[in-house]
Amino acid sequence: MMLLDKTAIIYGAGGAIGGSLAETFAREGAKLFLTGRSKGNVDRAARKINAAGGFAEAAEVDALDEKAVEQHLNMVIGKTGRIDISFNAVGIPNTKILGVPLVEMDVEQFSLPIATYTRSYFLTARMAARHMIPNKSGVIMRVTALHSRTGIPLVGGYGLAMAAMEALTRELSAELAPQGIRVVGLRPQAMPETRTIKEAFEPRARASGMTWEQWQEFLASRTHTRRLMTLAEMANVAAFMASDKASGMTGTTVNLTMGSLDD
Ligand SMILES: NC(=O)c1ccc[n+]([C@@H]2O[C@H](COP(=O)([O-])OP(=O)(O)OC[C@H]3O[C@@H](n4cnc5c(N)ncnc54)[C@H](OP(=O)(O)O)[C@@H]3O)[C@@H](O)[C@H]2O)c1
Repeated sequence: MMLLDKTAIIYGAGGAIGGSLAETFAREGAKLFLTGRSKGNVDRAARKINAAGGFAEAAEVDALDEKAVEQHLNMVIGKTGRIDISFNAVGIPNTKILGVPLVEMDVEQFSLPIATYTRSYFLTARMAARHMIPNKSGVIMRVTALHSRTGIPLVGGYGLAMAAMEALTRELSAELAPQGIRVVGLRPQAMPETRTIKEAFEPRARASGMTWEQWQEFLASRTHTRRLMTLAEMANVAAFMASDKASGMTGTTVNLTMGSLDD
């Protein structure tokens, strides 16, 4: 087990990526503290893990609320004495941020993903780091998307938000790695089994005269493998990156686009 007895908090654990990470981390032996805005989704994720013999506790935490993040983290430290892994997998609904040409977009809609994503990653990372520094150990993680590195139409401020979080990963690492804390990210391409991707791409597929299945084939054709990544594959890489086996890895976001995007 790569994460035996590690204490991990996942923000956005009621979502597709957060939930998949939680199951994989639990299988690898981690003690999970799952958080999200809607408790129902997080409860479901925790129940699944506990039923399979793992340890998961669910809590409602708004990852944009400094006090709520701090109170929850203090509760976790009170119970376990430490925090080893902090993973921010928060995602805001794509319907609020995508689909409008930049020339027609108002500044509020443009700024929303940039402000929301960076605030939540900064808050959760900063708070975790404060508790990791005394232990001289810990891993801070975030998921981004290939929009950070390539121009894609109709994505508003989303690409900037992803690029900003990758920059924050590097900056946090530069300050924290000398104190034993690693900061790493994952940049997967679209995983079609997630609701978010279907919501984001189905209207674009329709607009291009393609079915959802044809659109997936089009995306897959741009990878070296000619298929898209699964959630389980992404979560397995994340578990390795969170583990001590990845002790040589920090200040980087791993390209999981299977060849769609060159480094
Ligand atoms: N899905 C993919 O294939 C894919 C690929 C590359 C990158 N990404 C990126 O990865 C991230 C997660 O994607 P996903 O597919 O897992 O999305 P998702 O299924 O919508 O999950 C996002 C989760 O974040 C939670 N959340 C939103 N605002 C929050 C807040 N302020 N505090 C706490 N939790 C909050 C949501 O909870 P509520 O539902 O309660 O609001 C939801 O459970 C997104 O940034 C997405 O753009 C996704």
